[in-house]
Amino acid sequence: MSFYVTTPIYYVNAAPHLGHAYSTIAADVIARHMRQRGEDVFFLTGTDEHGEPVALAAEREGVTPQELVDRNAPRFIDLMPRLNVSNDFFIRTTDSEHKTRVQEVLSRIRANGHVYEGIYEGWYCPRCADFKTDAEAGEDHLCPIHRTPLVRQKENNYFFRLSAFQDDLLELFDEQPDFVMPRHRYNEARAFIESGLQDVSLSRSTFTWGVPVPWDEGHVFYVWFDALLNYYTALAYARPGEDLTERFWPAQFHLIGKDILKFHTIFWPAMLMAAGLPLPEHVFVHGFLLIGKDKMGKSAGNAIDPFKIMDEYGTDALRFYLMREVSFGHDGAVSEEGFRARYESELANDFGNLASRTIAMVHRYRDGVVPGAELDADRAAEVDALSGEVCEQLDRLDLTAAGDAIWLRVRRLNRYVEERAPWTLAKDPDRADELDTVLASLAEGLRVLAVVLHPWLPQSTDKLLDALRSPQVEFECARMQAGRLGEIAKLAPLFPKR
Ligand code: MSP
Repeated sequence: MSFYVTTPIYYVNAAPHLGHAYSTIAADVIARHMRQRGEDVFFLTGTDEHGEPVALAAEREGVTPQELVDRNAPRFIDLMPRLNVSNDFFIRTTDSEHKTRVQEVLSRIRANGHVYEGIYEGWYCPRCADFKTDAEAGEDHLCPIHRTPLVRQKENNYFFRLSAFQDDLLELFDEQPDFVMPRHRYNEARAFIESGLQDVSLSRSTFTWGVPVPWDEGHVFYVWFDALLNYYTALAYARPGEDLTERFWPAQFHLIGKDILKFHTIFWPAMLMAAGLPLPEHVFVHGFLLIGKDKMGKSAGNAIDPFKIMDEYGTDALRFYLMREVSFGHDGAVSEEGFRARYESELANDFGNLASRTIAMVHRYRDGVVPGAELDADRAAEVDALSGEVCEQLDRLDLTAAGDAIWLRVRRLNRYVEERAPWTLAKDPDRADELDTVLASLAEGLRVLAVVLHPWLPQSTDKLLDALRSPQVEFECARMQAGRLGEIAKLAPLFPKR
């Protein structure tokens, strides 16, 4: 089956930070996991390059907007391999193929009667590139997110008739209760629709940095309409000479942060309905990484410098920390101290130690050959249940539950080492069979854990599986099997203590 997953496309007028890494790594874990299951996966990320904030930043720096985006986009493009992210394509909304398709789809929406011309007057935040309602603007007319002054704007606009989709959207929410996940975000989006939808600006005429409106030269499309369409347009040109739209549209999951919920759960499905296109199956909304109580972002600075952590501890350690530390779907604080504590306890002590001692004991007691002995039935039952559980959890994008389920087994196997004390068994030649079973169960259990953990820790699990001389990561081999492993190599500590 095809599986299409996307991240938000990131604004290029700031440097990439941990928040961007977070969404992207989460999508990567899902994409890698689905590939292990043999699904036909397409994973998209990219940059959002138009709009007033970019135009303003370019003006401030005395360069053209195109120069600014050409200078900044590579920072995001280069971030992906650095995070070991396996995206299948990287879209830039300044790609000419994207722009042509945006014009096509929005012209279709107009031809279908959902666009009209009018005058817009309201409070606008140039930093959000978004109009605020009177309630949001409040009496002091400050942006509720940035606390900076809003601008009163009046301009000739084309409007998208969002209000006409109120009933269709409610019907969608009734029929597909998992269209927005998790549940508390579904409720939030639904309440927004129920409070009444107003038509929205589809175009801007006070600046020119955007996709030109084909039927009126003085306008460019409002950046959000251009940006949302990336999920659809990319498929048409990601593979030269091949159109992947039929194969992958509609997407299974759009992964987004809670700040852009309104656009993805209301504007986006309404636009697709207006264009007569199929809707994505799910929008999964995750929470914010916080520094103390504040959202981490370009204004709040970084609690953790992702590049410093990766240089010192490796990419896997950063990926793992972000996916384990914050309950997926909720906000959570991150810090360097938190990072170090989790690195020590879960990577160095739990998983790293299980790997090191298992491999060391096979060398010490059995000359580096995993015995073909019968496996411990209880251990096999526990570990074999894991892949089913993780599949079921990741079908719901419950990365936290999946991580917990895996960790339960990691700890259980470490306890098994203590309980069976192979160093004592080794002293008694009459207990050689028992020792064989313990070593075989540990090595096979470790192998299966490495397979299931691979999406979180791609580099270290590859290293471990290479040492076990069993490099396959397909889920077909995520069950313990006696006699599967034979001679194995030695292994340097995967997560050395600092
Ligand atoms: N360009 C728009 C999105 C268009 S999608 C069609 C945008 N870009 S952004 O650069 O501001 O990135 C927003 C996304 O980055 C959030 O939705 C979230 O996925 C991620 N994050 C940015 N800061 C974050 C945190 N502090 N915590 C977690 N994720 C955050 O909005």
